[in-house]
Amino acid sequence: MNYSGIGRNDVCPCGSGLKYKKCCMLNSEAVNTNKVDAKLIELYQRKYRIKLKTKTDIAGIRMCGKLVVDTLNKVRDFIRPGITTNDINTLVHNYTIENGAIPAPLNYRGFPKSVCTSLNEVICHGIPSDRILISGDIINIDVTSILNGYYADANMTFLVGECSENAKKIVSVARQSLKEGLGMVKPFNTVGDIGWAIQNYAEPLGFSVVRDFIGHGVGINFHEPPDIPHFGKKGTGITLIPGMVFTVEPMVNAGQRYLKVLADGWTAITLDGSLSAQFEQTVVVTEDGYESLTPYEL
Ligand code: MF3
Ligand code: CO
Ligand code: CO
Repeated sequence: MNYSGIGRNDVCPCGSGLKYKKCCMLNSEAVNTNKVDAKLIELYQRKYRIKLKTKTDIAGIRMCGKLVVDTLNKVRDFIRPGITTNDINTLVHNYTIENGAIPAPLNYRGFPKSVCTSLNEVICHGIPSDRILISGDIINIDVTSILNGYYADANMTFLVGECSENAKKIVSVARQSLKEGLGMVKPFNTVGDIGWAIQNYAEPLGFSVVRDFIGHGVGINFHEPPDIPHFGKKGTGITLIPGMVFTVEPMVNAGQRYLKVLADGWTAITLDGSLSAQFEQTVVVTEDGYESLTPYEL
């Protein structure tokens, strides 16, 4: 698959089977994903600053998401004891550029690298370094790319070599937490339902859910409205409607939910030193549920 820009004579990425120039290129702003009417589109923009995505937007984010997932799969094949997190950064950076995309983290609000690599007690925003991976580590790799102006954001946590039962358990709880959250994504559910489902799953198992970092709208920019907390109450918050694109990315700790950010201004670690794990996907709300734009098996 190539990730180059959409040409006028290419098949339209919206799935119509028509040429792009006869389809979404003509009406990229007029065509919405869905049957959401103009008043509601306007209301979400005005009230929540949420830009509902057009079919063309969604096709672009989907194409970017395919690259993001391919990148994560490359990282999975590459990870082993003995490599450094800088080696992972090099792989992600080069693969992104080779495919005509830009690594979104690089220079984002001063972030110095092209990917986040978060080891063990690091919750998120770990900075690649000369740290060597050792057997028993768990590591989250968070990839965001910009392809043809569209952003997609996803992450996975990997086991390095032979890991403890505790390490395996938190990775599996984090994976299932994302699945629980995504299970709530459908029209007329609310943002609060997503967080509630995650909290209601992870906390009874003795894990905590981080509150200081949350999911977010994405697509035209790296971080857009709405906020998607991974905790909350059923039926509260913004109502989900087709065309909304956002991440769900619960961070789950083995100990307490509290964190501190290191002096580098980025690395967030658990305050109690306990393990933390995370999975993230970018999704679009559809007529009857959601479609992952960064699909991988959970
Ligand atoms: N990808 C992260 C997220 O899921 C954000 C990383 S910001 C960076 O929102 F600057 F650290 F890259
Ligand atoms: Co994100
Ligand atoms: Co991310």
